[in-house]
Amino acid sequence: MTILKDKKPTAKSTNTKMEEQAFVISDLNGSEKLTQQPGVQTIPESSEMPSQKSLLRFLTCGSVDDGKSTLIGRLLYDSQLVAEDQLAKLQSDSKTYGTQRGELDLALLVDGLQAEREQGITIDVAYRYFSTLKRKFIVADTPGHEQYTRNMATGASTCDVAVILIDARKGVITQTKRHSCIVSMLGIKNVVLAVNKMDLIDYSEEKYNKIVADYIEFAEKLELDEIHPIPVSALTGENVTINSENIEWYEGKTLLGFLEEFELPDNRQAKPLRFPVQWVNRPDLNFRGFSGTLTSGEINVGDEIIVLPSGKQSKVNRIVTFDGDLEQAKPGQSVTLTLADEIDISRGDVISEPARRPEISQQIVASLIWLGEESRKQGQAYQLKAGHQTVTATVSRIVHKIDVNSLEQLEDKNFSTNDVGLCELQLSRPITFDPYSENSETGNFILIDRLTNATIAAGLIKSANREAGNIHWQQSAIDKTSRGLQKGQKPACLWFTGLSGSGKSTIANVLEQKLNQNGNHTYLLDGDNIRHGLNRDLGFSDADRSENIRRVAEAARLMLDAGLVVMVSFISPFKTDRQLARSLFEDDEFYEIHVDTPLEICEERDVKGLYAKARAGEIKQFTGIDSAYETPENAELTLEASTNSAESLADDVIKMLKDKNII
Ligand code: ADX
Repeated sequence: MTILKDKKPTAKSTNTKMEEQAFVISDLNGSEKLTQQPGVQTIPESSEMPSQKSLLRFLTCGSVDDGKSTLIGRLLYDSQLVAEDQLAKLQSDSKTYGTQRGELDLALLVDGLQAEREQGITIDVAYRYFSTLKRKFIVADTPGHEQYTRNMATGASTCDVAVILIDARKGVITQTKRHSCIVSMLGIKNVVLAVNKMDLIDYSEEKYNKIVADYIEFAEKLELDEIHPIPVSALTGENVTINSENIEWYEGKTLLGFLEEFELPDNRQAKPLRFPVQWVNRPDLNFRGFSGTLTSGEINVGDEIIVLPSGKQSKVNRIVTFDGDLEQAKPGQSVTLTLADEIDISRGDVISEPARRPEISQQIVASLIWLGEESRKQGQAYQLKAGHQTVTATVSRIVHKIDVNSLEQLEDKNFSTNDVGLCELQLSRPITFDPYSENSETGNFILIDRLTNATIAAGLIKSANREAGNIHWQQSAIDKTSRGLQKGQKPACLWFTGLSGSGKSTIANVLEQKLNQNGNHTYLLDGDNIRHGLNRDLGFSDADRSENIRRVAEAARLMLDAGLVVMVSFISPFKTDRQLARSLFEDDEFYEIHVDTPLEICEERDVKGLYAKARAGEIKQFTGIDSAYETPENAELTLEASTNSAESLADDVIKMLKDKNII
């Protein structure tokens, strides 16, 4: 880690700077909700822009109280004033040098940022674009006071520099430390320590030095490369865009000067090829392409590629874009690839180079930044989105939490808002990824609460969980197909879902008798029964219900493996849990059957008297009363049990099983 101090610019160079930073031509607030994934986002690359100027992406951390908005306002507004001052000069320059026959040469100003704005994607982050003669900038402005962390993590991952704002009157506070910790976790190596409100501490060098020393002492344990302290006053503009007369003792650059001259290599093109498939483009029978954005590496027509996780290999036939075919695509470009061979590829697959492949694992170790308002619950299943891949995930173990003040590792079983730490996650299916340290774009994910759809954590993958990976599946010589064949059936899982009292168990019972008479081998897993044994430790909280479903789904999977037609009759009220259950089976093994009886009718029947108790408040979290039932949207079969007999509905199921060649 180095702390950089620059020489004070001479009067002449200061003047030059005034000219150089002449024009701010856009202050576009890109906070439109052009959402893809509400997690860590990609800001388009400079290579896509027609202008030759380089692009610096930076993040500002701090709250309104620290003067963050004023600082950003300053950067934009001051430069704009300069622009106006320079307008006359531009006009005369245009006459002399312009290509527009003496008219104002707008080409000198307009620099293609519109395209970025259109792609600039965000949830809570306002991307602001501005430009000086030297450079273009994207500021990921992350609004908010207390909830800053979530916004910050969203904006930070593709930034080159973080500007950490400190209120000079307060010095280094917990929030500064937390911001720095996350910035470092996110892989940002360069920090500008903007010590703001210098005017309010009488421009005291001593106080400033103390703050810088405090910060450096703290930051020693962080993996930062460089720290650049600058004393500023956002309010007066001192050392933001122009050198301060009042801070004579400071010999370095202004904030804008620093940002304009900061150099960094973009090595994304040198990294291994990663092309996460966003969608399969099939406009007609003659064309089948795979669309997405190249996140790293380069891809050329004729290149050998491998598709993961399937491992199928092929060659790139064409690189198709809106403006015609390309020979080569670079990081940040959105293209559609066609391949030489007809291979199965779907959304979420990653096209890669055969020699340098990403990892694939169902157990991962990752740093988590907890953004949710609710703490983590034991066993709770979340939706995990990594690029275009979506799986179900549980946090199986917290390895350690980090105390952001001391940067010590703590043992703790709980995660609540703004906590950061290292965790192990168990996924419903393997995902394709790179460690975050090697590739931030294919190494990050977010966790989503399946009920509220809120992003509750940002994750940075460290590695596959090799310890968990040490347990290997033992392949037995006899498999489920041969076990099924012996029984004259194709094993299957029939998943009955519906409200309590909807008729699930009644129908499943009639069905089992019919199957039995037909000579089939079956088993019925019933919610009430399993809750007497295997799941007797579980109640009816959301987390317990998830665990209830996870266990019975695993039990059903074993029974299917044994060659049975297994029926599961559980309320299974939550979509994600049913999805998790489905994800354990092959496509032609799992059949979701929605027993669709209106709540009024279930309540009227009230066979077990439980609805009455729930209404009286004697039972809490009763499905349909004070706990949700999420209606299935993609059930293979819907049974209207209020208007049909169990007998005829069981026949409907039998018909489906025959159609699918299960029996
Ligand atoms: S699930 O929601 O976790 O899938 P499950 O099917 O195992 O539920 O168990 C539901 C059965 O438990 C109901 O048929 C009912 O008899 C009983 N029960 C007791 N308390 C509740 C409750 N709060 N909500 C729903 N069912 C309950």
